[in-house]
Amino acid sequence: MKSIASAPAKIILFGEHFIVYGGKAILCSINKRITVESELTKTGQIEIESSLGKLKISKSDSYKNADLVFRPIIYIAQKMLEKFHSESGIKITVRAEFPSGVGLGSSSACCVAAAGSISGLFGNHTREEILKIAIDAERTIFENTSGADCTACVYGGILEYSKDGHIRKLELLPKFDLVVANSGIIHSTNKVVSMVRQFKDERQETFSSLCTQEAGLIEDALACLQRNDLTKIGKLMTQNQEFLEKIGVSNDTLRSMISLTKDVSYGAKITGAGDGGCIIALADKTNLEKIQSALAKKYECFSAKIDTRGLEQGSA
Ligand code: PMV
Repeated sequence: MKSIASAPAKIILFGEHFIVYGGKAILCSINKRITVESELTKTGQIEIESSLGKLKISKSDSYKNADLVFRPIIYIAQKMLEKFHSESGIKITVRAEFPSGVGLGSSSACCVAAAGSISGLFGNHTREEILKIAIDAERTIFENTSGADCTACVYGGILEYSKDGHIRKLELLPKFDLVVANSGIIHSTNKVVSMVRQFKDERQETFSSLCTQEAGLIEDALACLQRNDLTKIGKLMTQNQEFLEKIGVSNDTLRSMISLTKDVSYGAKITGAGDGGCIIALADKTNLEKIQSALAKKYECFSAKIDTRGLEQGSA
């Protein structure tokens, strides 16, 4: 039997970076997925095949001996084999519909899909149990993860969250499309977070005023999302981008991508750490194609909708 599970990508609608200093952020799952298939084998090995490479490791070998990208999956496989006293090995295949390393949450989606798929080989597990396994697995590569990305992958939809562990799923979902465009510049979240820390230390008053403004913006955004007010949501995204510009996480490429959408989208901003990665532009059916054609001449881009499915599991 093959156990199959999939989980969605995510974007950050509002609040990246400021969340590190106590603010709220708003995450949105989108309808691009990572699918993981797994099956028990007689080899005594954990075998992984993905677009990022292939790996075979003895199931008793430490996950720390493997490349970072494979560690969470090995961790999940070992935990499950151990818990169910299984003598088997596991073969795992990962397929992604979106790029990794550009702030779309590929590692969390992979952790959740892998936790869903591998746990499915050993019977039914609740979404909460799978979320816990996925967050523990993600900690093998991001020790301090808040768990919000994995939570978004498991439940789908839009989440408000903060670093102190507060997570709330929005009851009413707005209806919009997004265009996600990839700058092609791989970024390091840790490096950009350190740059912002330096900005904060050198310009404490400016930074603290931006944090206050961002907090107000997030409250407005939450209200507008509930009202499905795309014009206002777009304006708030543009304003959020101005704050991100001020703290120095934008660059010429990202600015020029955002300006390509200026006359056609409701609003646009970086999603995630910045200094590379992706931008998002807010759309509906009236302007979706215009935004895509403005960006597609120079950048890889795709349209996306809010994912409401979250984690899905099945077998073949
Ligand atoms: O680029 P991503 O998806 O890793 O997002 C980083 C979000 C930050 O706020 C910049 C960092 C964080 O830990 O919240």
